[in-house]
Amino acid sequence: MTQEQAKFIVIEGLEGAGKSSAIELVKAIITQHTKQAPVCTREPGGTPLAEKMRDLVKIADETDPLCDEAECLLFYAARAQLIANVIKPTLAKGTWVLGDRHNLSSLAYQGGGRGLMPLVKSISDITLKGFKPDLTLYLDIDPQLGLTRAANRGELDRIETQKIEFFERARATFLSFAAEDESIIVIDASQTIERVHAQIAHELSARLG
Ligand code: TMP
Repeated sequence: MTQEQAKFIVIEGLEGAGKSSAIELVKAIITQHTKQAPVCTREPGGTPLAEKMRDLVKIADETDPLCDEAECLLFYAARAQLIANVIKPTLAKGTWVLGDRHNLSSLAYQGGGRGLMPLVKSISDITLKGFKPDLTLYLDIDPQLGLTRAANRGELDRIETQKIEFFERARATFLSFAAEDESIIVIDASQTIERVHAQIAHELSARLG
């Protein structure tokens, strides 16, 4: 029997969609399925250099505001670093990778939210060269509800304090990519956590067997 090829599974969603608890669930399901814990990544971040870039995009500096194009390039620099030094080597060893966000976030936030879709698509094509997750679970939430949940957790960062229209555009972009790509599954994250988790478990078992 040939060994199943290691997969790259990604959880996406706006702030307050419930990514963290979904990640714990998916991690447990993958561990049970493969008999080995997946390597978990987060974006931006996941390598020492990419974590520095995470701080650059998360923390506002009023004396030198980050322009939209520089923000976009930082996300891709961090992603390229993570793919080269963590994601690809891990998959090559046969270990699954579970990602907290990936390229779909840039398409949604920078492409949709910032209105930079042509730039995002060009950089995406050039840097990723077709590399993409095997499966993405997109936790869909109304931005107002998600941001209220996120605000209840603590202080909001530079991106979380954008106007609601920014998140509405990002959400519409997440949904439009999901409608075009069978590897992106939409989960209604406004349901109770039990129902969200039941749906995630169902979708994964249908795909993992
Ligand atoms: P989070 O992973 O803790 O939610 O923080 C990441 C933030 O960065 C979140 O507000 C979404 C945003 N983001 C982008 O705007 N573009 C990207 O490509 C990624 C990965 C994240």
